[in-house]
Amino acid sequence: MLSEAFQKCIDPSCGLEYPVTDIRIECERGHLLDIKYKSKPQTSLKEVFYKRRNHANNIFNESGVWRFRELLNFCQIDTENIDECSRYLVSLDGAEGRLSKPYHMSKVSDYVGVQNMRLQPEGYNPSGSFKDNGMTTAVTHAKLVNIKKIICASTGNTSASAAMYAANENMECDVYIPAGEVAPGKLGQAFQFGAQVIEIKGNFDDALSASLKQAGKGGGYTVNSVNPFRIEGQKTIVFRALESLDWEAPDWIVYPGGALGNTSSCGKSLMELYEWGWINKIPRIAVVNSEGANTLYTLFNGKFEGKELRWNKGKPDTELIKNYYKFMDTNGIKPKTKATAIQIAKPANIIKGLRALEFTNGIVTQVSDSEMLDGMALVGLNGFDCEMASGAVPAGIKKLTSEGVIKKDDTVIGILTGRQKDSSIPVDYHKNPQNRFANPPKS
Ligand code: F0G
Repeated sequence: MLSEAFQKCIDPSCGLEYPVTDIRIECERGHLLDIKYKSKPQTSLKEVFYKRRNHANNIFNESGVWRFRELLNFCQIDTENIDECSRYLVSLDGAEGRLSKPYHMSKVSDYVGVQNMRLQPEGYNPSGSFKDNGMTTAVTHAKLVNIKKIICASTGNTSASAAMYAANENMECDVYIPAGEVAPGKLGQAFQFGAQVIEIKGNFDDALSASLKQAGKGGGYTVNSVNPFRIEGQKTIVFRALESLDWEAPDWIVYPGGALGNTSSCGKSLMELYEWGWINKIPRIAVVNSEGANTLYTLFNGKFEGKELRWNKGKPDTELIKNYYKFMDTNGIKPKTKATAIQIAKPANIIKGLRALEFTNGIVTQVSDSEMLDGMALVGLNGFDCEMASGAVPAGIKKLTSEGVIKKDDTVIGILTGRQKDSSIPVDYHKNPQNRFANPPKS
């Protein structure tokens, strides 16, 4: 195998390197990893990517992830050789990322007060969330290193996606979920795709610790977003958004914040594109936390011990993070939001997320459950489907616009991360005429 791609520790003062074929989620000193590429992809590939949209039944051109395969070629294959692509690249028949691109949603634009805003429904992926972008690449790596069993913790969407790809690749799959805290549609997918569900008493953070412990004992290959190969696939969310803007960077890219895999992958894709000369402006990332699960908001904005947590050129104040986690543990503070997808108190990618925020001059805000529900309902009124956690995006944009942070003529891309998988949420919302965009039934 060529040594064009390799793994590298993200801590600049550590910087340990490993071959692509190593199976690890951190360096031996406990820092997260990046996938790095030695060569610089030529901008003429923009043309190639565009042409592949006319895919002529080549599933690797049809896939919204593998269409950009030269920018995530960690298998180091001849990307124009269809036999090599078929041998190495895992795809759900080209379905991942195929339908997701930014759409103008006029009612949402009017509500948030930004006309140059587009929302990208990543829920229109085969398992119904953005996770498929990264799962297709994580499972590709798993296949490259001959893995027969994958494992994850999940608030529901990761497990659905992992189970779906595992079923398709004939791999076993164990999913650790917080009992009673996962949308029924997501849990149903895990069962339906043949995964072994392991219910944990506690929240997502507890489930993640349990699954990582199990993986450490040889219990499977971790496909959570701490796996750097997940992050590679999720970069394509940004590629599709930028391609739709003719690679003219927007002013803002907005995500809901949970474990911060998306924030990390957005940051990595922008760092690479900027370094490679594909874009000459860096969009600002805005992360939207739920008020009930707002660790990043709290630490980034100096709401704990008065210190603003920053990447700080690779020297973040990790003591501050530890102290805040200890504070939550000793005071019994648990994440609590009806948007269970982002009910996370200890974002596993926080350090990478901080790097992304620093590179993009990003910001972090928070919204309430009712603001998220309004955002979700309004996306529905434009004929698009999203889940409550994704409703954080229009809600956050509205808040930031009303505060004058996002300007009315800014260009904004918002990522709607998942489809509705708990029908009781919109039904309850619309039955209550008190809700802002309720569409109550008649009797
Ligand atoms: N939106 C949805 C719909 C999600 O499912 C998640 C995360 C997020 C946002 C947060 O994204 O972690 O990249 O910041 N869901 C994970 C799961 C935790 O297990 O399905 P992030």
